Amino acid sequence: MTNNDLIKKAETVLNNNFKEDKGFTIPCEGLYPFQWNWDSGFIAIGQAHYDTTKAKREIEALLSAQWENGFIPHIVFHNDSDTYFPGPDFHQSKLHPLASKSHRTTGMTQPPVLGFVLKEIYNIIDDKEDILNFIKLNIDKVYHNHEHFYTHRDPNNEGLVYIYHNWESGTDNSPIWDDIWETMDPPKYKFERRDTTHVDAAQRPTNREYDYYLHLIEIAKAHNYDDAKIAELSPFLVQDPLFNTMLIKSNAALIELYELIGNSEDKIKTLKQWQIKAIKRFNEKLYNEKLGAYVHYDLRNEKQLEHISSSSFTPLFAGIPSKERADTLVKTLMDKFGTDDKYLCASFDPESDRFNPKKYWRGPVWINLNWILYRGLKSNGFDAIAERVKEESISFIKTYGFYEYFDPRKEVKDNAGYGGNNFSWSAALLIDLLKSEI
Ligand code: DGY
Repeated sequence: MTNNDLIKKAETVLNNNFKEDKGFTIPCEGLYPFQWNWDSGFIAIGQAHYDTTKAKREIEALLSAQWENGFIPHIVFHNDSDTYFPGPDFHQSKLHPLASKSHRTTGMTQPPVLGFVLKEIYNIIDDKEDILNFIKLNIDKVYHNHEHFYTHRDPNNEGLVYIYHNWESGTDNSPIWDDIWETMDPPKYKFERRDTTHVDAAQRPTNREYDYYLHLIEIAKAHNYDDAKIAELSPFLVQDPLFNTMLIKSNAALIELYELIGNSEDKIKTLKQWQIKAIKRFNEKLYNEKLGAYVHYDLRNEKQLEHISSSSFTPLFAGIPSKERADTLVKTLMDKFGTDDKYLCASFDPESDRFNPKKYWRGPVWINLNWILYRGLKSNGFDAIAERVKEESISFIKTYGFYEYFDPRKEVKDNAGYGGNNFSWSAALLIDLLKSEI
């Protein structure tokens, strides 16, 4: 199959998942029937290459559900569906007094990609005047979102924001969270899983893991999703390197875009202040010398969670590590994840006994993390490894199809694509990998 054929197939996947009436793209049929926050960001990057209108509508649809306090939720329930649990009746976002009045949403968020997505689509789209006009209409909403993070999600005022739920991390069932589950003992909830009717249960979280997930939401709901109460009470309170990297990268993009727009000195000044503080604290608090990698910080129990995951390498994407630290980080990446028997990049440390190459975020390769890693390696001058990540990502999709995640083990030759098929961000980022000239 030629690259052009592959791009055409990817466009078909995206177009089939696009909901024309509401103007957004589902991540995939059945498994994820609504609009997901960071999925939409990556999807818009792919759409920008062939359909500017769709890319803009994708972003507008997400922002149309922004809360009055700047918060952008992780799922927007634009439509009804009985193929997903937990749906809008479980989340009850309206408990929060400033929740969207027009849309039902969740009361949690996802990695804040929108800032850098706006910059990406500005770079991709040829009609600069038109796209800058679009950005002018929307950029303050993203700024407001960042303001919300720094004022409500940073109780120590240190420049790093917390997440209170594993679904906010994007890396939903990562083995990192096992350390936190050990501190909790939630009730056994009665619920009907829907995900395992679409996908083999061996590739999804366990029922017991869902008890933890639901319990964290129940705690937040009991306090009407109030940030201060969550910071005080949630057993899950984590400073996540991937999440904070996305915010820092998005800050940098907002600075560049406001400079293009002009007359935005106050906002640029504030963004730069956030940025200096965030990068400094990130390097002090989230780096683990012994592991030679960035790690998660458990803010509830005041300690680093000493595990290496694909999130550990994402700070390269936002220029967070010094040259020396970047060298160490890439050495760790290659020694542990880049061995001859594996494709890059497993989502969790392949040397750990918690590694599972088939189960969602406990080991498989994800195309969005590979895209972030590719960009990060490239911008730090690790061109050859960056090319390897790009080629292996393309080859996964060429060989197996537009799956949600892939088995990192080279010995697996059949059915190495797992989770949902015709998965939107795999299609969108494939288009970008093949078309972007970076
Ligand atoms: C799920 O249901 O697994 C979603 O990824 C949560 O965001």
